[in-house]
Amino acid sequence: MSKVFPVTLTQQGAWLLDQTVLPGKVAYQTIKTPEAMADAIRTMVVRGAPAIGIAGAFGLVLSARLAVAENLSVESIVIKLREDAELLNATRPTAVNLSWALREMLAVVDELTRNSSPDISVILDQLTEKAEAILAEDIAANQTMGKLGAALMPKGAGILTHCNAGALATGGYGTALGVIRAAFEQDSTIHVYADETRPRLQGARLTTWELAEDGIPVTLVTDGMSGSLMKAGKVQAVITGADRIAANGDAANKIGTYNLALVAKAHNVPFYVAAPRSTLDLSTASGDEIPIEFREEEEVTTVNGERICAEGIGVYNPGFDVTPAELITGIITERGIVNGPEYQVGLGKLYN
Ligand code: MRU
Repeated sequence: MSKVFPVTLTQQGAWLLDQTVLPGKVAYQTIKTPEAMADAIRTMVVRGAPAIGIAGAFGLVLSARLAVAENLSVESIVIKLREDAELLNATRPTAVNLSWALREMLAVVDELTRNSSPDISVILDQLTEKAEAILAEDIAANQTMGKLGAALMPKGAGILTHCNAGALATGGYGTALGVIRAAFEQDSTIHVYADETRPRLQGARLTTWELAEDGIPVTLVTDGMSGSLMKAGKVQAVITGADRIAANGDAANKIGTYNLALVAKAHNVPFYVAAPRSTLDLSTASGDEIPIEFREEEEVTTVNGERICAEGIGVYNPGFDVTPAELITGIITERGIVNGPEYQVGLGKLYN
């Protein structure tokens, strides 16, 4: 079990483990308003698809707390919750977990207010309960995926992962790193390779920290090294998380994942994606329809605040890419593993 929990709801507000200062500092921010939560998601104090979904749900609890403190009417609370859900949802477009969690929260309000006008404290209580359930279910899903996925990892495998799909990116434990954690419990001879993950360095800063905290052996590589690593026979499986999986199995994940899948294919190394139900978007037919977040140029042109390239150049900075289903060996979910090329049918069967 990982000891890292990136998002916690307390009486004082939502605590976020500040992922912008790790691993140099382990510091928490206390978030008290939905606006502050939206900023924290946008600036990646909290990041990773399931974690921002949970943070969004907590943002709506904060919204309801403020409404109760101001003694707003039920009608005004409902309007405010909807506005805040829109604000939170606009922060990061690719990870579908955010809109999923916000919809789950608003469904609670719809249900409560459809035929009656409940006490506003009841709305707050039920939203709190739902948000805590979203968090608890995410951790449980990760642990189940871990067990299922661990069985796919060959004994003594070198396992390459990209970005951070760990406890930090989820409620706790992790998707891809959950599988790695579970595999390590059974076989301490596995070895992890972590891509540094330019430009935000989630692999270098977060994945290596998280694994080192748990005593899981990890070697850091730059994003361009996967080909040479595989050619050298050091990688027996690649596993990543996902930010949104379309109905046909195409999976959006951190930029660079697509390259990795191509290199894995070229070297006959299995490429797995681990993701919970909240990452599936069966209403999106294929990866072509997944909205891709483009981020500011400075992420690419600067390192630690210092410009590293000439002025006046072009910069291309999509935060995510889409790995086509045919490059994915299997999708590990908490309800089972779906193997390609049966994604369309398999994912629908598990989740409809
Ligand atoms: O931009 P980020 O750091 O939020 O991107 C995160 C990723 O791409 C993760 O790999 C993905 O969310 C899966 S997390 C379990």
